[in-house]
Amino acid sequence: MKEDIQNRVAELRQQLRMHNVSYYEKDAPSISDQEYDLLMRELQSLEDEFPQLRTADSPTQRVGGAVSPRFPSVQHPAALLSLDNAFDEADLLAFLERLRKNGAVDRSLLAELKIDGLTVAITYREGTLETAATRGDGLSGEDVTANVKAIRSIPQKLKNAPALLTVRGEIYMPKQSFEALNRDREENGETTFANPRNAAAGSLRQLDPAVTGSRKLEAFFYDIVSGEDVTFPTQEALLEGIQAYGLPVNPKNRLCCTVEEIAAFIAEIEEERHRLPYDIDGMVFKLNQIEPRTKLGATGKFPRWAIAYKFQPEQAETIVEDIIVSVGRTGALTPTACLQPVSLAGSTISRATLHNEDNIRGKDIRIGDHVLIQKAGDVIPEVVRVLEEQRNGGERIFVMPHSCPSCGQPAVRPEGEAAWRCVNSHCPARIYEQLVHFASKKAMDIDGMGPAVVKQLLDRGLVRDIADIYTLQMDDLLSLERFGPKSATNLLNAISASKTAPLGRLLFALGIRHVGERAGKVLASRFAGMEQILQADEAQLTEIDEIGGIIAESIVSYFAEPQHRDLIQRLSDLGLNMQGESRPAQETLLSGKKVVITGTLPGIGREEAKALMEQAGAIVASSVSKKVDYLLMGENPGSKEGKARELGIAILSWEEMQTLLAAGRENA
Ligand code: IVH
Repeated sequence: MKEDIQNRVAELRQQLRMHNVSYYEKDAPSISDQEYDLLMRELQSLEDEFPQLRTADSPTQRVGGAVSPRFPSVQHPAALLSLDNAFDEADLLAFLERLRKNGAVDRSLLAELKIDGLTVAITYREGTLETAATRGDGLSGEDVTANVKAIRSIPQKLKNAPALLTVRGEIYMPKQSFEALNRDREENGETTFANPRNAAAGSLRQLDPAVTGSRKLEAFFYDIVSGEDVTFPTQEALLEGIQAYGLPVNPKNRLCCTVEEIAAFIAEIEEERHRLPYDIDGMVFKLNQIEPRTKLGATGKFPRWAIAYKFQPEQAETIVEDIIVSVGRTGALTPTACLQPVSLAGSTISRATLHNEDNIRGKDIRIGDHVLIQKAGDVIPEVVRVLEEQRNGGERIFVMPHSCPSCGQPAVRPEGEAAWRCVNSHCPARIYEQLVHFASKKAMDIDGMGPAVVKQLLDRGLVRDIADIYTLQMDDLLSLERFGPKSATNLLNAISASKTAPLGRLLFALGIRHVGERAGKVLASRFAGMEQILQADEAQLTEIDEIGGIIAESIVSYFAEPQHRDLIQRLSDLGLNMQGESRPAQETLLSGKKVVITGTLPGIGREEAKALMEQAGAIVASSVSKKVDYLLMGENPGSKEGKARELGIAILSWEEMQTLLAAGRENA
């Protein structure tokens, strides 16, 4: 018996440690929060029952994950405690009773929403954001200052704040942003995030703050960790106070004085939670009075004055009736489970995303299986696991098609990618998705050209590709269902207006893999025009901040295809804007010339020199090839000099280059 218990304790610890690594360090949980809580509770109760088995390094004794070595560690001014959990009304009553026993006279509680994000502690000195850290092990966390500074919704400066203030809050990703991010990632064959919280964690712990900045994170603050000369009498006053400093505070909270009031507020929020634009995983009840909190103190890692109420997991059981595969605009084949309709979290669910082949295999999902589903991040339903005990042998293993379900051409699964892909650029499903994307708001913003109109245009053979949109005539549109002269004129005007869209939008609209809105903008800001982008090689592209190897490779291979070059030519002939923002005022002696820099330039940094040459229309590359026009050479040149001489490339000093630049300005 004793040995059984010892073994079980060891097993639970090992499992919890493994899940801790997946959750805290890899931002990819391997089990649901509810399953994790169950394991933790089991271990906790065994340790309570057999205290001799308790060890200092048991997962029950630690607040969270270890500090990840990727970011420097920073010590919190005071420990960031976690909260004990209540799962039902009885647990809440017991909490109130403990408060009474411990001498709390006014036991009114402020009920707040428990935001499902990740904790951040931010220190403001003289009202200016100085450091930001994750919770880590509660005592010290990861220094994510640069990344947090890139989050626009978090103030860099506070109003009328004390000289030194550390606030605690929750960074989260709104449901809508999470869905959009996952859609993009799925399209690009990248792994998707399991839920908004993991997406927020993954986005915050980026080595490049620009990536964090692009991810639409938000925050709510709810506590003061430490502060000079700040005292608020109650939690209510504290929330109002930090809001007045300019920090975002969740507007939903209520003062509850009885268990009935608590239960009523829980019921209200449980009903409303799915309509909130962000995920919550429960509620937090805090003793409203602040002064008695110190006396109440904490037990191990939990304060005695607050408790978290966790919502019941919202999962449902149903049957996988079929698995279908759809084709995205980049050709990614995405499997979806067709489910026996079941009601979950306030809506009827009949579809669940299966993400990709590996997910289906990993969970061994078969057609006919009874499965447990849940709304990932409360939005997109997904299959949690198969209820294997309910199998009757009639289930069918699903095999991901190796050909495109739309055009029938062979599909490929490139090494290292999660998605099978249709590579036929004439595939009707891809063309449909491409056109819908091209016309969409964030791309060319052609109002009136939604999915239904695109479908009709394709079905009637009025368009076959993107460029055909710009040849549409009044009569074509009048032949469509529900189109009259007014709507047709409006659509023609919208199409015509889109011709002047900035180049960044066009680049995004083309649907080049990995080129999102941001990459489109960055490219447009760094090149004189489409022509220069078409000619750029990978080395040149990766020299641009924010353009990594994957994006660069994708751009080069896109423009290497003759049909894409033809498409660009046609779009240009049809009058679409092809000019970038970094164009020179006029033709200069350097327009379109490829330059490579080597050695130290006298009196000017490389970046500055590069910017000047690019302004004059030059393309600055990193390696010498036959296509290079000039080698700009400073002191202590590297091997590039020899190579340039070998290829007979003109070598210029910075002085000579300045003459070319000046000549350009005179011409202009
Ligand atoms: S109070 C000592 N308030 O939930 C103060 N926590 O399960 C403890 N959380 O680690 C935190 N919303 O990351 C508090 N309104 C809220 C919260 C909240 C989300 C998180 C927080 C904490 C975890 C505890």
